[in-house]
Amino acid sequence: MPPPDPVIPALAVAPSLLAWYSGAARQLPWRLPPGSALPPADSAWPYRVWLSEVMLQQTTVAAVTGYFERFIARWPTVTALAAAGDDEVMAAWAGLGYYARARNLLACAREVAGRGGVFPATEAELRALPGLGAYTAAAVAAIAFGEPAVVVDANVERVVSRLFAIATPLPGGRAEIRRAAAAITPAASAGDFAQAMMDLGASICTSRRPRCGACPLAGLCKARRVAPERFPVKPPRRVRPERRGRAWWIERDGAVWLVRRPGRGMLGGMRALPDDGWHAGGDGLGGAGRLIGAVTHGFTHFTLHLELALCAPEDWAGRMTAGEWWPKARLAEAGLPSLFARAARLALAEEGEKGG
Ligand code: ADE
Repeated sequence: MPPPDPVIPALAVAPSLLAWYSGAARQLPWRLPPGSALPPADSAWPYRVWLSEVMLQQTTVAAVTGYFERFIARWPTVTALAAAGDDEVMAAWAGLGYYARARNLLACAREVAGRGGVFPATEAELRALPGLGAYTAAAVAAIAFGEPAVVVDANVERVVSRLFAIATPLPGGRAEIRRAAAAITPAASAGDFAQAMMDLGASICTSRRPRCGACPLAGLCKARRVAPERFPVKPPRRVRPERRGRAWWIERDGAVWLVRRPGRGMLGGMRALPDDGWHAGGDGLGGAGRLIGAVTHGFTHFTLHLELALCAPEDWAGRMTAGEWWPKARLAEAGLPSLFARAARLALAEEGEKGG
């Protein structure tokens, strides 16, 4: 029988990681420098941490930074954000994707504003706010309030699964990863620790070709001796189903017909081009207009091929119910989600080619 795997000394992780972070932390607009004391709970600091974490759900730091700075300049406090109109916030959010998050963002801001603009300071209370899932509640508790919450995002999952060479495939392996993450989370400096794990995952312990030679945890890491790229162990690949749909560009006197999508459902509450509801399978299509191209967009659970057709207002007339004529020159202000913004660019390019 081979000897049992050595268990990594969990308590050695935080000191090595924090020492590395004190020199290597990324400077980000929602971050304090490593080792800083936390500002008071009733300052605007928790708002910044919360806003950044909601924006960063499923999006990269590079994509979020500009949005974060624009939001903070326009709505410097949670109370200011709570007082904003739904439309303004949705338009400012456009491009970040997952619009349910923007709606939850506002619902949460209004809930916190109703409590005098002060965020609750514990993981459990944060979890009860709109839009705060397990990850975000833990991240805000740790980063804004110093609670030793166990923060596990995709980066942390990768680092921990390698450190302990956790062989159970995802998603089943997540419980084990979480227990291991809990074992290495220190009682103090929880916010720095969480963000150090994220930075390590983003810069050194990357999915492909991790730079183990530069890693402060290399001496402790079990996967390093095997093949770090194999962790976290993925479940067998499943193909994302494909859907086809059609949207229409209908124009009159320099304006285009835009509709408002229903509040619930994909891209709910956003302005959009009229479409066929993206019927799965089939030709999904039919209807009036001249096809000019298509855009492909990856949603979480399916890939959409959205065809775009040009249609004259008179051919559309019967279907022109709720909607508005929006000036083409001000299309950027409509807050179209990127799927429809890309479709709109197709139509504008087509017109450009025809000198229209
Ligand atoms: N991803 C999610 N939260 C983050 C943070 N606070 N810093 C860097 N990347 C993150």
